[in-house]
Amino acid sequence: MLNQWKLVKHLSSREKLGSVWFASQLTSKKKKKQGYFKYTTPQNEQFCGPLIANEYIAYRLGKKINLPMASVKKVRIKGKAGIISLEKKQTPLYNWAQLSKQHPNIFDHLHRPKRLLKMFVFDVWIANIDRNNRNIILYPTNKGYDFYLIDHGLSLLGAIRWKKVRWNKKYWNSVSEYNRRYLKGLPAYIIENQEHLPAYIDCIQSLSDDTIRQIIDKIPPPYLKKSSRSELVSFLIRRKKKLHQLIDRWLKEYKPTSTKEKEPVESSYDT
Ligand SMILES: Nc1ncnc2c1ncn2[C@@H]1O[C@H](COP(=O)(O)OP(=O)(O)O)[C@@H](O)[C@H]1O
Ligand SMILES: [Mg+2]
Repeated sequence: MLNQWKLVKHLSSREKLGSVWFASQLTSKKKKKQGYFKYTTPQNEQFCGPLIANEYIAYRLGKKINLPMASVKKVRIKGKAGIISLEKKQTPLYNWAQLSKQHPNIFDHLHRPKRLLKMFVFDVWIANIDRNNRNIILYPTNKGYDFYLIDHGLSLLGAIRWKKVRWNKKYWNSVSEYNRRYLKGLPAYIIENQEHLPAYIDCIQSLSDDTIRQIIDKIPPPYLKKSSRSELVSFLIRRKKKLHQLIDRWLKEYKPTSTKEKEPVESSYDT
């Protein structure tokens, strides 16, 4: 029984995006782990693709470039295969919406805020369409607020399925067209600090194609079909090569007025 996960509280159940539960692990009190369990049904997969693969691959890729990713585990609870995103023990935890309300000049309060530029370049690489104000978690430290990244369900094949545009279409070259979601204030911060972007692009480009292949190959067969595997490898390798162009184009095309952060119908996504 020890180390087994137990569902504690049902948080949401969406027609398109699947369900989220708060879960905890039955261990000794000191080591107690808590997290958020997400799983989808075959119906959800029509809208958001292979959830476990999207979340797990994004997590592994982010770790490779030293981004602070929430730990993600593949688990089966009560017969449902899904992922757990582990909650950090630090308290209190905030999301971007909450913290930026408390601190209008939030960037001045963050520990190493330039890592948000790295996050942005990473999100462009994996075509994340859902970096909204709730998909980053922050907590105070004596060097300012630190943070970690959560929810990569609508990146990679999740984004492709959600938008219903094939992976090899030109559509995916215009970040400002396919992405409507930004942390509040981040576009202005990126534009102001754009001279730092190339170093982060280089960091992603220094990952070898083989590293990407290996991460994708490690996903067990039930969670990612063969044809999706090769599609995803090609998508990531192509985008890695043209990352400088993708970012340059965003810098040219991005318009503040083109972005609406709407509250989502599905409580997480609506466009
Ligand atoms: N590792 C984590 N640490 C803290 N909170 C989390 C973590 N993972 C998820 N959450 C919380 O659960 C909510 C839902 O999880 P998320 O993965 O964003 O799914 P969705 O947006 O599809 O509902 C998040 O907005 C956040 O409040
Ligand atoms: Mg979310």
